[in-house]
Amino acid sequence: MMPALIGVVCEWLLAFVCPGSDAAPAPEARIFPPPASTPLRSICSGRLQFITQRHPCINGLHTKRRRHLTAAAATPSDHNGPLSLSPSRRDHIGESLLLPSAALVAACTAAVPSAQAVGRPPPADAAGLGPERIPQGDYVTLGGLSVAPMGIGTWAWGNKFLWDYDPARDAELQAAFNYCVEHGLNWFDSADSYGTGELAGRSEILLGKFIQSYKGGPRDDIRVATKFAPYPWRVGRGSIVQACRETLERLQRPCLDVAQLHWSPPLGWQEDAYIDGLADCVDRGMARAIGVSNYGPVKLQGVVRQLKARGLTLASNQVQLSLLSRVPLESGLLDTCRENGVVLIGYSPLCLGLLSGKYDADNMPKGARGVLFRQLLPKVGPLIQTLREVANERSKTVGQVALNWCLAKGAVPLVGVKTAKQAEENLGALGWRLSEAEVRALDDVSSAVKAKTLQNIFQTA
Ligand SMILES: NC(=O)c1ccc[n+]([C@@H]2O[C@H](COP(=O)([O-])OP(=O)(O)OC[C@H]3O[C@@H](n4cnc5c(N)ncnc54)[C@H](OP(=O)(O)O)[C@@H]3O)[C@@H](O)[C@H]2O)c1
Repeated sequence: MMPALIGVVCEWLLAFVCPGSDAAPAPEARIFPPPASTPLRSICSGRLQFITQRHPCINGLHTKRRRHLTAAAATPSDHNGPLSLSPSRRDHIGESLLLPSAALVAACTAAVPSAQAVGRPPPADAAGLGPERIPQGDYVTLGGLSVAPMGIGTWAWGNKFLWDYDPARDAELQAAFNYCVEHGLNWFDSADSYGTGELAGRSEILLGKFIQSYKGGPRDDIRVATKFAPYPWRVGRGSIVQACRETLERLQRPCLDVAQLHWSPPLGWQEDAYIDGLADCVDRGMARAIGVSNYGPVKLQGVVRQLKARGLTLASNQVQLSLLSRVPLESGLLDTCRENGVVLIGYSPLCLGLLSGKYDADNMPKGARGVLFRQLLPKVGPLIQTLREVANERSKTVGQVALNWCLAKGAVPLVGVKTAKQAEENLGALGWRLSEAEVRALDDVSSAVKAKTLQNIFQTA
């Protein structure tokens, strides 16, 4: 009862604000003990094949990428730096799951073209709202994996309070999921706090079910990032490993693509332990990459340092970013992310649907969002108007322009969808870019808007 209640409160806060035990990793699964001696490349060469057969994370990789990976790890010029293993560890490599995670991430990264692409001409729009597929060059590298330049959020898939979730409409969610995957929108974000009470874990459960029942082709390229809430009853690094275990069960996956800490715990309580717990998940082969959420530039650098000490990197930071939430641009966070090779994921890019342009005084969403929108809408008229003008000029929709603005800022927007139609429209935000003049016009009007959406109370400096 108590966890459910706190979960509801947390979700409420998250909504309105934007919205075990201490176990070290099991020795046989420890991946990064690089004390000395032999260059990693000589171990990797020829051995990776074995590791790929044993390690679920690597098995999950697309065959083509695995081939790249093997080649990359076997290339003498690669990864001959600080990564090395003691002779005794090397002797065991054939029998254990000793996986040089940092090297693999680096190898994956090297194998996947980094594509913070800009300035591409718009592809032909056929009859629909979006392109048939995302241009290959627009994919971005997240935690060493190639993902679509826009993620799909699943907060609404199980949340009644803010999103009016109704299990009777799960088929619609599944159709939205299928549409996304079929059209190259290949990564999904969830959280263990999405869905509370009797709907606890619903978003992850649905996502797992949809992935399992997807019939449209190989599921290898579907990527899942999820978030662990730093609930006060989670104590010690082992609690994050346990949370990851439970999440993997709900998702029916052997390994997460990105394991994220949902927010920085107040007063830093257990924070180092949680970050260590995320690193343990990678070491144990339960996650490929690590991300955080709601971190500001100062705290972010602390996490980068902590992970570096374990030979790992921070893949991403997920924060609220939209034309009505410009904090990451003004706080220096975007620059800090760039300098540290951290992908900035912008959540609620449509400001919970307000910037889709479909809501007005006569058409408000039910419940808590309606209350928020009633306050915001009278003050955002000029912004919606400018969005509409740019959209008309470009034969795009208001929402597509709002999403494209996030891309223009160098962020990866993370948008929530409930239907295939919405997914189709949002897909149409990709494959083209606003001009500098259009971005400037949107910046001017959005900076002047008096009412900004509420900030997440867990967002740190
Ligand atoms: N880390 C964090 O603390 C945090 C916080 C918030 C969100 N997130 C993540 O970010 C994701 C996205 O953010 P969000 O869901 O809060 O807000 P959002 O992406 O700004 O808005 C999503 C909502 O807008 C509406 N919508 C989407 N596409 C549309 C379209 N093409 N046309 C018309 N309406 C459309 C849908 O709701 P209606 O149809 O009901 O209007 C949809 O559920 C979440 O799902 C979650 O994964 C993370």
